[in-house]
Amino acid sequence: MAAEVAQFTQSVSFDRRLWRHDIVGSLVHADMLYKIGVLSRAERHAIVHGLKTIAGEIEQGKFRWKPALEDVHMNIEAELTRRVPAGAKLHTGRSRNDQVALDARLWLRDEIVLLLGEIADLQRALVSLGERNNDVLIPGYTHLQRAQPVYLAHHLLAYVEMLERDCERLWDCHSRVNVCPLGSGALAGSTLPLDRAFVAKLLGFVDASGRPQLTQNSMDAVSDRDFAVEFCAAAALLAVHLSRLAEDLILWTGAEFNFIKMADACTTGSSLMPQKKNPDVAELARGKTGRVIGNLVALLTLLKGLPMTYNRDLQEDKERLFDTADTVRASARLMATMLRNTKVNKAACAAAASDPALLATDLADYLVKKAMPFRQAHHVVGAVVALAEKLGRPLNRLTFAELQSINKTFGRDALSVFNLKSAMSKRNLTGAPGTREVAKQLARWREQLS
Ligand code: ARG
Repeated sequence: MAAEVAQFTQSVSFDRRLWRHDIVGSLVHADMLYKIGVLSRAERHAIVHGLKTIAGEIEQGKFRWKPALEDVHMNIEAELTRRVPAGAKLHTGRSRNDQVALDARLWLRDEIVLLLGEIADLQRALVSLGERNNDVLIPGYTHLQRAQPVYLAHHLLAYVEMLERDCERLWDCHSRVNVCPLGSGALAGSTLPLDRAFVAKLLGFVDASGRPQLTQNSMDAVSDRDFAVEFCAAAALLAVHLSRLAEDLILWTGAEFNFIKMADACTTGSSLMPQKKNPDVAELARGKTGRVIGNLVALLTLLKGLPMTYNRDLQEDKERLFDTADTVRASARLMATMLRNTKVNKAACAAAASDPALLATDLADYLVKKAMPFRQAHHVVGAVVALAEKLGRPLNRLTFAELQSINKTFGRDALSVFNLKSAMSKRNLTGAPGTREVAKQLARWREQLS
């Protein structure tokens, strides 16, 4: 092979991070070959010893990777065979096509578990921040305009819900990653009596009741990268959620909101303006979403025109998959760190939440309770808002006479709707931001995440 062709076609520079899973797969394949009589006891022993020695050397950074040997699979097998003659029997009944599918699935399975751990940790950080500030109210926004008051905890728990759905999607994806393709050969299985179920069980490819999970079509097994697409799709949505959280936090750190302050450990300065404290962690979590979405699109594009079965194009899946996993895991982790280093500026939140205009809907509800149709109540309160604006006074500073001048239905108790505390005690539908409901949700998540 010409040097530049070898350079162009090699994957060992990036797929060597699969080495642990490649070796585990080979150890189990060797066990199976021994079980069906292809390897003698001594041969199996020599292979196992050789693979473990190589694993130790890779671990210590002593293994010499050779780009000329293309990929992680060939590098390890070639070195094993150089040391142990029986290594030449290891590839019996196996192709790199089913081997690489196996390694990718084993790797991704572990990666999903690690990512789920980081997401749970981020959820805990959100719940803690909510608990530490369980009396803090802020305006809730629609169209980025102040709308109605909510507990800060309610806003934070919205992200906990989003992240929970991400976890469900990742677990669902895990169930399809967790299927063993080994034994599919290059595309058409093998004439040898390979024990696929034995391999699957030893590698943990089993369902909840311990039944081995085997791919059911050898052609599909070697050409399928749906599991990678599904992971990248779930990860892209997770990244979008992290990005939205990042955006809220970035807004809140700005002087215009001033709801939160991040510890210096999590902000960076400006090389020019000495006063600056920039929320770079959040900005990068937001910015990295672009490449995670891009990775998903790259994978889908990679697959769309491929004929059956394995095509070398598939080698291009790995960097996209690795980058996605690395990026979302780091983003989730750093977002949690940032939240743990965030203080809430209670005074600024209270000032913003005490805007009586936020309770204009409550005033309409007051009229509804006096039997006025809501559409009319909405109109009447609109007139009240306009009058307050004209007089240059906040909504709760209008007099009884002024309210009456707009509509006779207003009683002397109408202005009591502007008591924020009692307003918050009235929002107790399931999922609403009322005092009792938010406390209940915080307790539920605390329990569920412990
Ligand atoms: N390096 C390849 C990949 O990542 C492994 C399988 C190669 N198979 C082949 N027939 N060249 O997809």
